[in-house]
Amino acid sequence: MIRILFLGDVVGKSGCAKLKSDLIKQKEIKKIDFVIVNGENADNSGVGLTKEICEELFNSGVDVITTGNHVWDQKNLMEFIDKEKRLLRPKNLFEPAPGKGFEIFEVDKNFKIGVLNLMGNVFMKKCENVFETSKKFIDQHELKKHYDFLIVDFHGEITSEKNAMGHYFDGKATLVVGTHTHIPTNDTRILENGTAYQTDAGMCGDYDSVIGMNKKNSLNRFMKKNSNKHFPATGDATLCGVIVDCNIETGLALKVENYIFGKHLKNT
Ligand SMILES: [Fe+2]
Repeated sequence: MIRILFLGDVVGKSGCAKLKSDLIKQKEIKKIDFVIVNGENADNSGVGLTKEICEELFNSGVDVITTGNHVWDQKNLMEFIDKEKRLLRPKNLFEPAPGKGFEIFEVDKNFKIGVLNLMGNVFMKKCENVFETSKKFIDQHELKKHYDFLIVDFHGEITSEKNAMGHYFDGKATLVVGTHTHIPTNDTRILENGTAYQTDAGMCGDYDSVIGMNKKNSLNRFMKKNSNKHFPATGDATLCGVIVDCNIETGLALKVENYIFGKHLKNT
């Protein structure tokens, strides 16, 4: 059995610090073999990420970083992504784009984990039709043939699009999990044909906030009062995501559970 932890969007210094202080220990306690995080809000500003932050996340115990609509918000990432195989951007960005949206990684026990990063089309930046991109991908790839397990990060705004994508990959991926909204959903389950699913993983950030951003400033923005650009909240972060136990024979999910660790949220 291989156990994979997928963590939702890391937000600012608070999210990075929590990973640095707790992830390696959590991996030991939970017997985690492989960790994927969405890192597209990990910069101090809350948007994008840098080469230095990627390196910090890898040193904190992260194996692969996925991204989304903010992938290019910090300038040096475009150069770095071509050199760093463990950093992905959404596969359905308009080409040509730097980097890759899919990669296969090997874990200790000689298993291959495919990680596919996708971005939704509804209320998101313009990109290729995500269902067409997914169809092409599914036509060319197969569980236990091209990789042992497949993890799909679907970075999207709306629940219906993510829900549909879960069913589209059902039986063809080990886990389909949503990112981007920063709020974890309570629909963690294994779908009819064996794919683990959760509509949104939540974030790794300070939940005493508005989706990771300073709450006072965000409220002022909604109220059209004096406000600054959004900036992250800096209190203690909670790590949010999904742990999936993978079936070595089939590549599908044996078990999946919501993972929440930190101050403001409880896993009930
Ligand atoms: Fe996003």
